[in-house]
Formats: sequence, structure tokens, C-alpha cells
Amino acid sequence: MSTLNIKSSGKILGATVEGLDLSQPLDQASFDSIIDALGEYGVLCFHGQDLDEASLKHFSSRFGTLEINVANTFKDPNHPEVMILSNIVEDGKPIGIADAGQDWHTDMSYSSTIAFANVLYAIKVPRREGKALGCTSFANMHAAYEDLPDDVKQKLATATATHDFNKFWEMMRREKGSTRPPLTPEQRKAKPPVSHPVFLTHPITGRKVLYANPGYTVCIDGWPEKESEEMLEFLFKHQLDPKYQYTHEWNEHDVLMWENIGTLHNAVADYAPDEPRLIKRCQIMADWIFDSPQAQALGADREPR
Ligand code: OGA
Ligand code: MN
Repeated sequence: MSTLNIKSSGKILGATVEGLDLSQPLDQASFDSIIDALGEYGVLCFHGQDLDEASLKHFSSRFGTLEINVANTFKDPNHPEVMILSNIVEDGKPIGIADAGQDWHTDMSYSSTIAFANVLYAIKVPRREGKALGCTSFANMHAAYEDLPDDVKQKLATATATHDFNKFWEMMRREKGSTRPPLTPEQRKAKPPVSHPVFLTHPITGRKVLYANPGYTVCIDGWPEKESEEMLEFLFKHQLDPKYQYTHEWNEHDVLMWENIGTLHNAVADYAPDEPRLIKRCQIMADWIFDSPQAQALGADREPR
């Protein structure tokens, strides 16, 4: 029996999990409870944790293979699976990626093996007049799918869409005036565009989710350009209706774990360069989760198709 205490936020997503020290080995019952809670709440917060890189990596790797990011140089030198998200500059050099995820997206939808979950550990949180800045917002794609008009559900029932890493990258360069250079041909080759079903069967809940996002989804495969664009515009607007959204306000020592198959997220860029934010992150790929007996029993789509 797990002794976890899981409290819903009472909102469309989000719960806090008490009774676990994530630096310690995770027993099977707690592991199972976390998986179930990820399906039910999408976003889980474990307050008051104290993790070094090795324990962040160790906890995360229980849930699947960890991604080593192609485009980012800000990795922990001893642990390349641990990425540093930060706007801090030391001796004239940035210590982390300063603008990660600053618009709506789903991590690794551009990858043939998509992302299952992220684990972020907050070390420094910007605050102004006592109010936390640099929140992370989420949107619930179980709910967004359910509310789609029937004709849209039918039209897209077996459709796939193309996702391209370069879309988000170029948007950041263009619209946010960032210092990111264009992706090199090698980086583009390492992440060629991929297709995924527009509706996925979620490997934990067995329910359908809308798997498209404004950050990376570029077209509905095989549709004329105009129809594809109109449909994507409709889906992006629909899925970002505020009623599907939930925002996490960070505290130092929070570990936030979310599942990326049924949620979108956005790192809110409302803090200044002199308001330090420092977060360490692992990205978990959706390999183990689609192979789990639970997912197979549910008939979840396997990736890659
Ligand atoms: C991410 C991301 C969120 C944040 O880690 O995938 O988009 O708030 N960052 O830093
Ligand atoms: Mn992200």
C-alpha cells in the first residue's frame, strides 16, 4: 500500500503529492500511484524536495528513457540528460537556456518517439512584490478532445498531422527577437518532421486526447493546404480556451511532473533578466509507457506508427 496523499487542485488539471522524498528509491505502490495520478490530474507537484542531478535523473528514469536534447548546449556536464533552464548569466556567460518553452507547445511532438513526461526541479523562482513570476501554464487535451464538434471528431478520426521542431525554433527567432541561431543542417537532420495521429489513445486513461499543438504541428497529412491550415487554426484556438487551462505557480524546491500526451504547456515569460529563474529538467520519452501492460490492455496507439 502506498502512503501517498494526493490532493486535487480542484481545477481542470493539477494535484499535489505529499508523503514522498524523491531523492529516495521509489517503491512500486508509490510508482503506480504516480502513474495513475498523472492520468487523472496531468500535472503533479511535489513540494519541498531536495534533489541533486543524480537523484533527479534517477527518479525520472523510472518512467522511461531520458531524452538528450539535440539543440541545447546547456546540459549538466556530468549528466547530459539534465538540462538547465535559466536566465542567469555568470561571468558574461548564460548558465542555461533562457527562453525554453515560452509559447504553447508539447515537448517532443516533433520526435518519432514522443515525450511521456517532464520532471522539473525549481531552484530559483523570480518574484515581484511577493508574487511568483515565470509560472508554467497547462491545457487539458482530454477535455479539449471531448468538447470537439462531432463532425470534427469524424473528419479527423484517422488523420495524422506533421510536427516539425523547426516551427517553434523559427517562431522564437522571429517573434520573440531571440538570439537563437537558425538550426544547422545537422540539427535539422537529427530532427526531421514526423507524423502522429491527431487523436491518440492515452496510455494511462485509455481515453482519446487531441494531440496537436501550435508550437510544432504544421499540417494535417494529405489535406489541401488551405483546409489543413483552417482546421489547425480551429484546433489551436479550441484547445487554448481558458477553460482548459491551469497554471502552476512555482516555489523553490518544487518538483513538477507532468505528462505530455494529454496536456500542452507554456512557460510564461513575465520576468526580467535581473529576476533570476533556475530550473533543472529531465524529459522522459514515451517508450516504456506505451509498452506497459496497462497501455497495451487499453489499446493505446504505439509510437512510432
Ligand atoms: C519545458 C518547458 C517550462 C518552464 O521544460 O518543457 O517548456 O516553465 N519549460 O520552464
Ligand atoms: Mn516544454
